[in-house]
Parts: sequence; C-alpha cells; structure tokens
Amino acid sequence: MEIVVLDEMLDMKFTVEAFIGLALFSLLVDYFLYRLIQEQRDETPSPFTFPFGSFWFCSIPSIFIVLFVVYLVIIPVATGPAVYVQFQWLLTSYLLIYIPKFFYVAGYRLTHRVVKVKAKFTPEGKFKTMNDGRYPKITRKKFLSQVGIMLASAPFVSLLFGVMKGRFNFSTKYTKLTFPNLPDAFDGMKIVQISDLHLGSLNSNYSEMEAAVEIINAENPDMICFTGDLVNNFYEETLGWEKVFGKLKAPMGKYSILGNHDYGDYSHWDSEDDKKENLQGITDAHKRLGFHILNNESSIVERNGDQFAVVGVENWGHPPFPQYGDLEKAGIDVQNMPFKLLLSHDPDHWDAEVVGKTNYDLMLAGHTHGMQFGIEYKNFHWSPAKYKFKQWSGLYKKENQFLYVNRGLGFLGMPARVGMPPEITVIELAKGLVSNEPM
Ligand SMILES: [Fe+2]
Repeated sequence: MEIVVLDEMLDMKFTVEAFIGLALFSLLVDYFLYRLIQEQRDETPSPFTFPFGSFWFCSIPSIFIVLFVVYLVIIPVATGPAVYVQFQWLLTSYLLIYIPKFFYVAGYRLTHRVVKVKAKFTPEGKFKTMNDGRYPKITRKKFLSQVGIMLASAPFVSLLFGVMKGRFNFSTKYTKLTFPNLPDAFDGMKIVQISDLHLGSLNSNYSEMEAAVEIINAENPDMICFTGDLVNNFYEETLGWEKVFGKLKAPMGKYSILGNHDYGDYSHWDSEDDKKENLQGITDAHKRLGFHILNNESSIVERNGDQFAVVGVENWGHPPFPQYGDLEKAGIDVQNMPFKLLLSHDPDHWDAEVVGKTNYDLMLAGHTHGMQFGIEYKNFHWSPAKYKFKQWSGLYKKENQFLYVNRGLGFLGMPARVGMPPEITVIELAKGLVSNEPM
C-alpha cells in the first residue's frame, strides 16, 4: 500500500513539474516574441509592457495555462475516457501554436547573432553581402523574419502531417531470425507483432484501423502477438472494436498480454472493486477481440508433433511502472520446451530478468512508442525514446537471445506520429545458426 501511495506521489510530482515547465516555456516564448515584434515595429522594447500591454499575448498563454490546470485536476479523477481525448486535442493545439513560435524566435535571434559575428570579418565592419548590389535588397529585419518563418514552418508542417496522416501511416518492418533449436515444424513460421493500441486515443477511428488489419492479414501470419496497452485506462474504450480486430486471422493463434495502461492505475477509483471490475472488463475485451490473453501463463502450440511455447507475463517495469509480471510463474509449465517465445510489454524487463538469466529465445515488447517522434534515414535512427529506454525500437541481440521492440500501432497523449510511424512487425523464424537479417 505504501508503495502505491509513493508511486502516486511520484507520478503527481512529475505531472506538476511538467506543468510548471510548460507554463514557464509558454510565458517565456510569448515574452520574447512580444519583445521581438516591438523591435520590428521600431518601438522600444520594455519588459514592463508584458503581459499587460497586449491582450492577445496575454490571453493565449493564460487560456492554455488555465486549461492545463483544469485537466491536471480532472484527469486523475476522471471516470471515463472522454477527458483523455479532450486533453490530447488541447495538447495538440498547444504544440501547433507554441513549437512554431519558439522556432520563430530562436531562428530570428540566432540568425541575427550569426549575421552580427560575420559582419565583424568585413572591412567596413558591416554585414555587406545582403546589400552590396550582388543580391536583391532586403532589410535585415525582413530577412531575419523570413528565416524565422522558414524555421517555424518545418515543425508546424511536420506536426500537422503527423496528426492528419502520420498517426495512421502504418509501416511494416520485416525481420528474419534463425535459431538452431527451432523445431522443424516451425521453420518458416511467420509472426506478426502489434502493440500499444490505446483504443481510447483512437476515438472510434474504426476504418483507419481496419486498414491495419487488412495489411496484417495480407501477410498471412501463422501467429499474431499483441504486446499490451489495449487501452489508456478504461474498459469502455474497448467497446465496438471487436468488429475490427475480430477480423485478424492467424491459424496458430492470436496471443496477448497486459501493458501498464491496462490496470486502471492512472485514474482514481471509488473502491478497489470498481478498479478490479475495470481490469476484468479489459481482460475480457482481449478475449472478445479474439486474443488468447496470457496473464503470467503459457500456451503450447503443436504442429506435426513439434512443440513451441508462448509465455506471457503481466506488466513488469521499473518504477513508477507496475511490476505485476511473474516470469517464474508464467514459465513454470514450459521450462524444458525446445523453443520459447516470451511476450512482455516493457523492454526493460529483458535486461532485468530475461537475457542471460533464462532460456527464452525471443522476447517481444512494446511500451516505448518510439515517443511517437524521431528521425530515421538509412542506418540513422534517433528518437528521444533512446534516452529513456536502453532498448527502444527494433531488434536487439545478446549471445543467442533476441528482443524485438515494436513502436506501437496506436498513440497516447499527442494524437500524432512524427517520423515514427505506427508499426506492424513481421518476424519470420527459420532453422539455422543464430542470426538475424532483414527480410
Ligand atoms: Fe503504450
């Protein structure tokens, strides 16, 4: 009980800190933008004019700050999913306004600095190149303003694309893994992994997710594994989705596990019974959607007399994420199976309890979402997620054990994906020396 209270306090502390950071960021961005506009109008900048000098500059951050305070108070006591959807659109509006504003001010000021430094190297002590006749004449302020607008439009357009298209721009990733101990009957077996649906965030976008189901079925997978976070918090989020995910087809089975969001831990409940009822509803929803949920338990798949073990643990994460997972209990019935697949939502579990300590050949995880933001070009992969999770996306190998981290099919918080598309993972298993290669 004490641990739960401590976790709640840590969560609350983080939320309040994030809010204070966001409020300060908004006020500073607006303050510096206001001063910049005063300068552009050749008015004397005065810090005392802000925030009382301008209705607009005063009201926009104030409205956002008041709304964020309202949601800071109501989200922990919300009794249904609607409030999360409202919050995600509030956050999106905020980011669409404030990120470009920040880039405009930063771009303007930094370019001004660079121009000033360059000017020191010209004989006249001036920045000549823009006004020496070789280039079209442009005032310094206009030039700087255009640089600012250019720099501000890049994140604005990226984020807008991430909201309009990126969040449903499904990307299929292929990997082939070979294992010497894979039973012959499973040579060539195809597993599709999906993760982190967060149905409440999808807000009844059934047709978009039907497109994902069609992509998955077109791969003709033998097995489908869903690695947790079916919802954001509430059982009600699952209603209506059986008509979409019920269409998934896999002859060797569709297996699933719970993620940290599936326990209702991010909301207040009037009683323990209410919380348990919610969890039961979510567990039943996995079954209604056609998944065989593995709550610290295992299942054996048989083909031509060969056997293949699938083990699923409940969520196991480093605090403040919950540790309901019990790997020992989950795998007790399949200890000596020739090949073992483990489903565990949080990739941190791999280093903590799995790799080098067990004989699981492959673990599938999700949870990171790749922070729904990143940059990928050929072999260059970057996302802020890499500073939070040691294993944050794709394939990892230690000795002869593998971990695959899927970036999720849904989204949370911000209804957008920028440079980090929703992922469908296709893994082909083959018999041979331990190796991996793109398919
Ligand atoms: Fe998630």
